[in-house]
Amino acid sequence: MQTEHVVHVADARAAVADLDTDSVDLVVTSPPYPMVEMWDASFTAQDPAIGEALDANEGDRAFDLMHDLLDDVWRQLPRVVRPGGIVVVNVGPATRNLDGFQQYPNQEAVTRRLREHGLQSLPNVLWRKPTNSAAKFMGSGMLPTNAYPTLEHEYLLVFRNGGTRSFPPGDDRRYESAYFWEERNEWFSDLWELTGERQALSGDAAEARDRSGAFPLDLPLRLVRMFSVYGDTVLDPFWGTGTTSLAALAAGRSSVGVERDPDLVAAFDERVADAPALSTDLARERLERHREFVADRRADGDEPGYDAEHYEFPVVTTQERRIRLYETTAVRRTAASDERRRYVADHEPV
Ligand SMILES: C[S@@+](CC[C@H](N)C(=O)[O-])C[C@H]1O[C@@H](n2cnc3c(N)ncnc32)[C@H](O)[C@@H]1O
Repeated sequence: MQTEHVVHVADARAAVADLDTDSVDLVVTSPPYPMVEMWDASFTAQDPAIGEALDANEGDRAFDLMHDLLDDVWRQLPRVVRPGGIVVVNVGPATRNLDGFQQYPNQEAVTRRLREHGLQSLPNVLWRKPTNSAAKFMGSGMLPTNAYPTLEHEYLLVFRNGGTRSFPPGDDRRYESAYFWEERNEWFSDLWELTGERQALSGDAAEARDRSGAFPLDLPLRLVRMFSVYGDTVLDPFWGTGTTSLAALAAGRSSVGVERDPDLVAAFDERVADAPALSTDLARERLERHREFVADRRADGDEPGYDAEHYEFPVVTTQERRIRLYETTAVRRTAASDERRRYVADHEPV
């Protein structure tokens, strides 16, 4: 199996307009968060009216203008995403003291706009991020009534483009892409705790991650496995350091990314070099966890009822019988400009 990974250094508002209709099977993205200070300069560079609103302490106006900017990307998704395709937007609320301290509910603004464009809202996931210690409490110390709960979670807002996606009966790609019963039980919970950082980064890549507000690799990885099949194309229009593409690559899906900051894109070659070893670890880890699950069940006198076709272990349901995990065996960057990078990856069954 081969997958393709394309990264455009461009403004997503224009680049997504150039993508073919129905060319994307899944969107996983995390936009710059409106009203979070680290993104003020980026928003203002793209719309100077945003900087003027911030300077005038007009928080509500700045908030709306920032969401208007993101909306120029959101409004294009119903066309580029295939019918039945899933869109997942990672976003968190912002708190800010401009015209008085308040929370700016980004999750509500994004949901409202995507629904206005005809996407259907599905159950969301809350994921808990690590917050660093002492400075985390906001407000009036030990005295009522003017303190605030700490924001330690973000949203994964889930949408679908039209009705459910249909597959040919018994479709190989779909059945090979199955997840284990015990993975289903964990992944399809609406509360995730993702604390560890899987890929240790150093040098340019680490610097890029800090500057981009990258999400942990486990987040897009899990979403890709939940909402796409092998060979699908995953789009991230606010690509940052390319965590979504790395997850797609490791999981045997193709990807398209758009990022306006060329320095972030430049650091991707380093991450890609690690992708084959990473994908092997990830696949082996899933198999190992399943074997441990089977051993625990057996210890309880409860043998899973079906044999997996490609492995020596049993599985709990017939839907898992054809499950097959792939590792990335090679990735090469093909000739393309710095504005449009392209990588091709080979994948083999584990
Ligand atoms: C929250 S970060 C994404 C982080 C990413 N999930 C990761 O793991 O690295 C949002 C990214 O969107 C980019 N961005 C902002 N406006 C953009 C636009 N109009 N077109 C393309 N990228 C944009 C920013 O430069 C930033 O890297």
